Amino acid sequence: MRSLPPFPDLRAFLGWLEGQGDIATIAAPVSLRHEMTAVQLAALRRGGPALRFTGHDGPAMPVVANLFGTPARVAAGLGLLPEQVPEFGAFLAALRSPAPVEGMRDALARWPMLRAALSARPKVLRHGPVQESELPGLDALPVQTPWPEDAGPLITWPVVITRPQGSAPGDLAHYNLGVYRAQVLAPDRLILRWLAHRGGAAHHRTWARAGEPMPVAIALGADPATLLAAALPLPETVSELGFSGVLRGARTELVPARTVPLMVPARAEAVIEGWVHPGETAPEGPFGDHTGYYNAMEPFPVLRVSVLTCRRDPLYLTTVTGRPPDEPSVIGEVFNDLALPVIRAQIPEVRDLWLPPAACSYRMAVVKIDKRYPGQARRVMMALWGMLPQFSYTKLVIVVDGEIDIRNWDDIAWALATRMDPARDVMLLDRTPMDYLDFASPLEGLAGKLGIDATTKIGTETARDWGREMHLDPTHQARAEALLAGIGR
Ligand SMILES: Cc1cc2nc3c(=O)[nH]c(=O)nc-3n(C[C@H](O)[C@H](O)[C@H](O)COP(=O)(O)O)c2cc1C
Repeated sequence: MRSLPPFPDLRAFLGWLEGQGDIATIAAPVSLRHEMTAVQLAALRRGGPALRFTGHDGPAMPVVANLFGTPARVAAGLGLLPEQVPEFGAFLAALRSPAPVEGMRDALARWPMLRAALSARPKVLRHGPVQESELPGLDALPVQTPWPEDAGPLITWPVVITRPQGSAPGDLAHYNLGVYRAQVLAPDRLILRWLAHRGGAAHHRTWARAGEPMPVAIALGADPATLLAAALPLPETVSELGFSGVLRGARTELVPARTVPLMVPARAEAVIEGWVHPGETAPEGPFGDHTGYYNAMEPFPVLRVSVLTCRRDPLYLTTVTGRPPDEPSVIGEVFNDLALPVIRAQIPEVRDLWLPPAACSYRMAVVKIDKRYPGQARRVMMALWGMLPQFSYTKLVIVVDGEIDIRNWDDIAWALATRMDPARDVMLLDRTPMDYLDFASPLEGLAGKLGIDATTKIGTETARDWGREMHLDPTHQARAEALLAGIGR
């Protein structure tokens, strides 16, 4: 299915982008403090190329930014052309719940699936480029301070690698990879900001309960498949290391870390190794976040760095989170299309689902269903809220049916205006889970949910005759177009 070559590391991907004319070098002086953010966001807003900053005012190391600033580059990071994303989503859905194989011929017909399963097995090497050299400390990295009121330098694209207490370093199926921003406190200390429901936080609780220091590794400048697998809200039972192999179309290559009992990506640009000691936290932030606001200061665990290994000539990958559109919201749009077949496998009546990027990528969902029975819209709302941890933070679900285009606000407004009664068609829930980043919710971590049923009402849902939609004969419409074209309008 993959139509692009495998990208074993970031530089292979950058080389491919170079061939596409989709990366540009900015050699002019640009400050890592705030100014680089403006350049990144301006490039993103105009659908511009990935950027390589060589004239910045930090330690001498090229800074790569806006890597996934367009949906086409996110798809390319998955090895796909944009139009292949839905098909790949269907493939992933089939991988998750394979139908029983019916005979040898059927098994062979499904061989891409078998190949994908095999490529999902990571491979452990003895040496890797990521350990060619070492840096003296975090101050040797060109780390951005993204927003004017930010607390300090922030590592924005770290892939944080953890495993639970009691697991073995070689037990790769138990590893978690997540992108959690990291505030640099000192050359040998940073803060790991994994939110409570994240895989990294769950692992941290196992080490804290045992009263043992936790080994952590952070890959900087990982290959696109690892970056995207770590950013995807995968179910806890799916290993990001294995999944990145499926995305990459080639096995994940790992090497043993130097100073912590963990395996790390062999071809990343750099790896920070270190330990989180029981009970050691520091106030994190404030930093600008994807909500468009600065977060409050909150305590998060501190990582004490034991070594910083890197390639001989490392690149530093960075991004910026802010009010959408930002790079994570562009990634979110592609994930939306990728996730749809998986959602449909669980809730078959879902025809389409859109998480508007402007609503922080997950706080609002519009769902189109194939409506067949009364009350179905409410069932779909509840199924969605319960399906993925990420959907428990979706404050508003709007359900529509028929020919409503859910990516068109005019269509949504029309459905709301004509198919919804505020007293009958609204479902309000109270005290459901919410991330603490939502300061609009009255209690931290607990908030309401709103479901709006804007579908056609059928059966016992209404006692009245429902309106009939008006449509013109398509031949008359075509003739109208031709007539207007004839008078030059
Ligand atoms: C650029 C970027 C920054 C992110 N920052 C954070 C963060 O600071 N804390 C956090 O908990 N999640 C953050 N996320 C979201 C998580 O990485 C994402 O939800 C991931 O799926 C979590 O993986 P997990 O489910 O294995 O924990 C960020 C994502 C991206 C793409």
